[in-house]
Amino acid sequence: MTYGTGKSAPLTPPDITARKGGAPIVCLTAYTTPMAEIVDRHCDLVLVGDSVGMVLHGLPDTLGVTLEMMVMHGKAVRRGLKHALMVVDMPFGTYEESPEQAFRNAALLMRETGCAAVKLEGGRAMASTIGYLTERSIPVMAHVGLTPQSVNAKGGYKVQGRGAAAEIVLRDARTVAEAGAFSVVIEKVPDVLARRITADIDIPTIGIGASAACDGQILVVDDALGMFTAFQPKFAKRYAELGEMADKAVAAYAEDVRSRAFPAPEHTYGDNPQPLPGGKSA
Ligand code: KIV
Repeated sequence: MTYGTGKSAPLTPPDITARKGGAPIVCLTAYTTPMAEIVDRHCDLVLVGDSVGMVLHGLPDTLGVTLEMMVMHGKAVRRGLKHALMVVDMPFGTYEESPEQAFRNAALLMRETGCAAVKLEGGRAMASTIGYLTERSIPVMAHVGLTPQSVNAKGGYKVQGRGAAAEIVLRDARTVAEAGAFSVVIEKVPDVLARRITADIDIPTIGIGASAACDGQILVVDDALGMFTAFQPKFAKRYAELGEMADKAVAAYAEDVRSRAFPAPEHTYGDNPQPLPGGKSA
């Protein structure tokens, strides 16, 4: 598999930044080793997103995600990657207090998981933190527009930046780019705004519900595969219905067990006709 840069070594944050305006940057989330191995074969960037809390742990939102959860899933993903850049999300409450708090926890995530960069949510309010981290060798992916960790403050998962509010998201994106972020996720904003931001800033925009004008795209992998159906945003195109397939497979297994069709002779072990040393049979 040849990636956009033609490299086989792991991609780096500067490699991603250099893709601004070029071939679209392909990103997905992953939370486990087997999924990371699949995603790594096709993507430029793998995000261990705090969406893991909703997708794998059954949490109602991302607010209950902890550093320990991100470390555990980050380590699992690391084992599955050879080529893609690995980014780990900073959970709610682990970076907003001060740049020092953010540095301490971002360094922990990098040290424990081997990720090359962290992602944090927020625009202007996070500018000094992004500057502090990037000046201290921690590459930062920013995240503006709909920021799921602000679900309570924003009153739900609503489209951001419509009408006059476009200026707010545009300013947020400019500020995080100027602060030193190597790329920025833009979530759930009108397509004209995503296009405007992408033309306006000199780091790659990675869209999720933000139009094909962005420099790259990201989805939650379980959304794309039809595994996570509790919450189905309009932007989450489903490329498979694995949840439905899994349900059918489990139902078939249950039926086979109840009817004693499973295990069949090919799944069972015959007796050993030869006595074992010591005179006992197997
Ligand atoms: O947590 C997450 O998965 C994200 C997205 C941008 C996909 O932040």
